[in-house]
Amino acid sequence: METITSISELRKLLDDRRITEQSIGLVPTMGNLHTGHLKLVKAATQSCSFVTTTIFVNPLQFGADEDITTYPRTLNEDQEKLIVAGCHCLFAPSVEEVYGSNPLTSTVIHVPGISELHCGKSRPGHFAGVATMVSKLFNIVRPDRAFFGLKDYQQYLLIKQLVNDLVLEIEIIGIEIEREPDGLAMSSRNAYLTAEERKIAPFLHACLNDVAGAILNEDRDYRKLEKEGVKKLQEAGFKPEYFSICHAETLQPANSEDSSIVLMVAATLGICRLIDNLRMQTS
Ligand code: PAJ
Repeated sequence: METITSISELRKLLDDRRITEQSIGLVPTMGNLHTGHLKLVKAATQSCSFVTTTIFVNPLQFGADEDITTYPRTLNEDQEKLIVAGCHCLFAPSVEEVYGSNPLTSTVIHVPGISELHCGKSRPGHFAGVATMVSKLFNIVRPDRAFFGLKDYQQYLLIKQLVNDLVLEIEIIGIEIEREPDGLAMSSRNAYLTAEERKIAPFLHACLNDVAGAILNEDRDYRKLEKEGVKKLQEAGFKPEYFSICHAETLQPANSEDSSIVLMVAATLGICRLIDNLRMQTS
């Protein structure tokens, strides 16, 4: 596997691959790779003949009070894992290579509507940062397919809208959430949990399952179920940010007529912000 840090070098390598009609797969990440990320890479290697994974801790998607300086950076270990997963090329550019001298003067891609909901409310500018970075990667790599985790379900829908609105010829593939054996969704940020918090953290997923169980038992009072979800999380020691039962495509509050819904949750435990979701059919 080649590791490349320059945009022009990567473009040249990929152009050579395109000449031989290889299909190009892209897996964007911020590194500190775990089994969830590697699941994306493996899916990419199964459907594309040349897979580029990117590792870039994108300053534009972090708020001023967020963890960009402490975000775990483990490039050597990540390279080893990518080789084992069968990745062909790692693109790991510097901030300067991607944004020039000042990321804050970059043109920004704003995906309206979806960017303002849920995680977008507490993280203003976050989704514009994601959309801008992913657009850059799409332009640099020009993939046939790009792979995103359903763990970040709002991000996945945002990218789908971006591709649709800008008429990009890229297929977006969503990959199911990879979990620890106790149900906690894998995340690089789980490393921020203390041993005590780590024991509590799987309750987030358990709580989603409980509410899903109630819905399957024909309880369709979604606003009441959302309040109960928040209360249960508070009692378990979380600081819930939102617990929302939404239409699975628009992410607007679901009503009892909607057949495809998603239960979305964000909550902090100590200094660690956790998100999770559960998608389901009600009929
Ligand atoms: P990052 O948090 O590193 O995640 C990279 C990709 O891995 C995302 O598509 C995310 O949804 C997926 N992923 C993370 N944990 C997962 C899990 N437990 N199961 C399945 N997939 C999982 O998301 C980002 O980086 C950035 O916003 C990025 C898209 C790279 C733009 O900067």
